[in-house]
Amino acid sequence: MKRLGILISGRGSNFEAIADSIAAGELDASIAVVIGNRPEARGLEVARQRRLNAVCIPSKGLDREVYDRMLLEELRQNGVELVCLAGFMRLLSATFIRGYPNRILNIHPSLLPAFPGLDAQRQALEHGVKVTGCTVHRVTAVIDGGAIIAQAEVPIAEGETHESLARKVHAAEHALLPSVIARLSGAQAAG
Ligand code: GRF
Repeated sequence: MKRLGILISGRGSNFEAIADSIAAGELDASIAVVIGNRPEARGLEVARQRRLNAVCIPSKGLDREVYDRMLLEELRQNGVELVCLAGFMRLLSATFIRGYPNRILNIHPSLLPAFPGLDAQRQALEHGVKVTGCTVHRVTAVIDGGAIIAQAEVPIAEGETHESLARKVHAAEHALLPSVIARLSGAQAAG
């Protein structure tokens, strides 16, 4: 059973999907720690309500290397084996990535390599693509650029709004991320 470390910045609905999947017995893993970099992150409150180990390490004003060392320390203290970025809105340093080689996943709301970076759903609508989706990929120093592990498609309907598309992509994410973690947790190693 893999010990997960989940990093969030906001709502944390992907973290909740992981927690629900564990609770339902679909994912054989444990959440060792949920770390948020913003004290107001709703996901931290949800983690506390679920009696999980929720830790806030505020990032504001801190040098990236210094912050990332604090993150690594917290993850290691909790025996984390696999790190999941679930809406963690910060770039990670090479030091951090070296700390968990091949053991950091991210979920992104587009079919990468299309629409990396911020507001992927808006980018998809602006380009008029007919299909978008979400991607789970390994994290490297290149933003949204690591090897793709799995993707789920979301068709874009006529007259689709940003809100309706965001809802559909989120729903796809909530199914995809726990299933990828389950697959990796079942393997000898996450690589
Ligand atoms: C998700 O759309 C994810 O793809 C992106 O940030 C969003 C986080 O949503 N990286 P939530 O905090 O899990 O609800």
